[in-house]
Amino acid sequence: MCGIVGYIGEKQALPIIIDALKRLEYRGYDSAGVAVLVDGSVEIIKTAGKIRALEELLSSRSISTTMGVGHTRWATHGEPSTANAHPHCDCSGRVAIAHNGIIENYLSLREELQAKGHRFTSETDTEVIAHLVEENLRDGNLESALRSAIRRLQGSYAIVAMNQEEPERLLVARKDSPLVIGLSEGANFVASDIPAVLPYTRRVYILEDEDIGIVTREGITLSNEGGDPVSREEFAVTWDAEEAEKGGYEHFMLKEIHEIPRAIRDTMRTRVTDDNRLNLEEIKLSEEEIRSLDRIFIIACGTAYYAGCVGKSIFERLLRIPVEVDIASEFRYRNPIFSENSLAIIISQSGETADTIAAMREARRGGVKALGIVNAIGSSIYREADCIIPTWAGPEICVASTKAYTSQLIALYLIALHFAQVRGRLSVEEVACLLAEMKHLPEQVQRIFDREDKIAALAEQEELKQCRDFFFLGRGLDYSASLEGALKLKEISYIHSEAAAAGELKHGPLALITKGMPVMAICVQQELRGKMLSNIKEVAARGAHIIGLVKESDSETEKAVAEVIRIPENDELFMPVLTIIPTYLLTYYLSKALGREIDQPRNLAKSVTVE
Ligand code: G6P
Repeated sequence: MCGIVGYIGEKQALPIIIDALKRLEYRGYDSAGVAVLVDGSVEIIKTAGKIRALEELLSSRSISTTMGVGHTRWATHGEPSTANAHPHCDCSGRVAIAHNGIIENYLSLREELQAKGHRFTSETDTEVIAHLVEENLRDGNLESALRSAIRRLQGSYAIVAMNQEEPERLLVARKDSPLVIGLSEGANFVASDIPAVLPYTRRVYILEDEDIGIVTREGITLSNEGGDPVSREEFAVTWDAEEAEKGGYEHFMLKEIHEIPRAIRDTMRTRVTDDNRLNLEEIKLSEEEIRSLDRIFIIACGTAYYAGCVGKSIFERLLRIPVEVDIASEFRYRNPIFSENSLAIIISQSGETADTIAAMREARRGGVKALGIVNAIGSSIYREADCIIPTWAGPEICVASTKAYTSQLIALYLIALHFAQVRGRLSVEEVACLLAEMKHLPEQVQRIFDREDKIAALAEQEELKQCRDFFFLGRGLDYSASLEGALKLKEISYIHSEAAAAGELKHGPLALITKGMPVMAICVQQELRGKMLSNIKEVAARGAHIIGLVKESDSETEKAVAEVIRIPENDELFMPVLTIIPTYLLTYYLSKALGREIDQPRNLAKSVTVE
């Protein structure tokens, strides 16, 4: 999510660090900072806002240094502010830390360290690392202090650390968050992503989980957490900078689709314990408030709205209370009827969509509490909502949303399960069984990626490349997934695509089905399978070219369709997270075959901040 850069060499470090940070700007960030050694002391200069603001701060100083660490932060714990910007330091100001990732147990560590007298100056999870290092530095050097510190950390991290007593080295460590070391003559680099170092070197080590490294001007020493030496193969980067930003993928869309398993894990992380208990204290609604809810409004735009459509089914099934799902621009002018115990769930990737903000304000004016599901920490909705469940999808660059959608679904599931448990509709054990199923989703998404070649080959079929119209069919939750599938296809391929509730076919859409027309039929809900099969036969009889998304065990539906994509099986509540993946991949490959501008489709914007 955030960007890390470290330099140790013979040249002036600051211009190199700033330049390398700029190469990570595409990832999105809200604050920036550097830690450098000035006259033997660590100095941290940081600010909320863009790198330009940091440069202005630096321009009033004449700092000469050949070693330093830089960071661009995408807020997770704590709003975007100067205090929360990285690097962070210990109480003594001798140690500076830049970190990417999430420290899950930071609250308990923070309390423990505060009890020992450590003073915290930010709300971040990262700051505990600096104080943990300080605690251990009393008995040794930075390497052993960092080693002891990371033994206490749960979660994910890419860390770069410096200690003013050891001016000749940077320490690095990683687990579940990328970190590379760039090698060159007389200087070495550290970065969270390859594009940062490309102008300086194409020789990199890609660190693996649990690697700890000492980076000096002359060389690199790597070891594992136990202290045994490890070696990593030197990797020669052949991509250009633009390709490297995309992590080797041709487009951000494909990269972001492939980030879905990680985004699901991160959105569940800290909220689901190892023994499958829910921990949603961050929802600042009392049990009494949750018990007394009698109506839920889900409000959003675009893809977030379609996540809300899935949410409506889930909440109604699990809670048995009425849920209304609204397009924000409709909600704000329809004079909705609120009850005394209504809740508005506001879903937004950017947190800045004008209509969604206005709808949230409308609900709050009506006395309704707003619970935001937001990806961009510090955004307007994040700040104004009464309570927030952040999605941890990370910055999304492609205009069309993919990983944010699946993370929004996960957040909705977690909230629904929490409410169901509090209201006594599900026992702790029943919730634990469902959470255990949810934990399979990342690996099941990965299994669909294993079928990516087949989906890419489908996109080369003339029926698809030549088509003017494309239908998605489904019932129930499969219909909700169809809506998002159809939106994605029209956004990027410019093919007219529509989702039809399969039961509505005979009331209109069937008139449009002609020979060879592609139809994606989503059929993974057991109870509705028989009815869906009849609908598939109806469109097949009109010559439609049907691509069926069917459960791995469903051999019957498979026979009724021209092409089949098998979907791993999970509890039916969670199947939309899986069925959406082939629709995203097919959209991507078909749009590519048609030569479309995939990441920036015509006429569309990532964040719609005007009405
Ligand atoms: C635009 C974007 C979509 C997004 C929608 C809602 O249309 O292109 O990808 O789903 O806005 O945006 P939000 O940031 O509120 O989720």
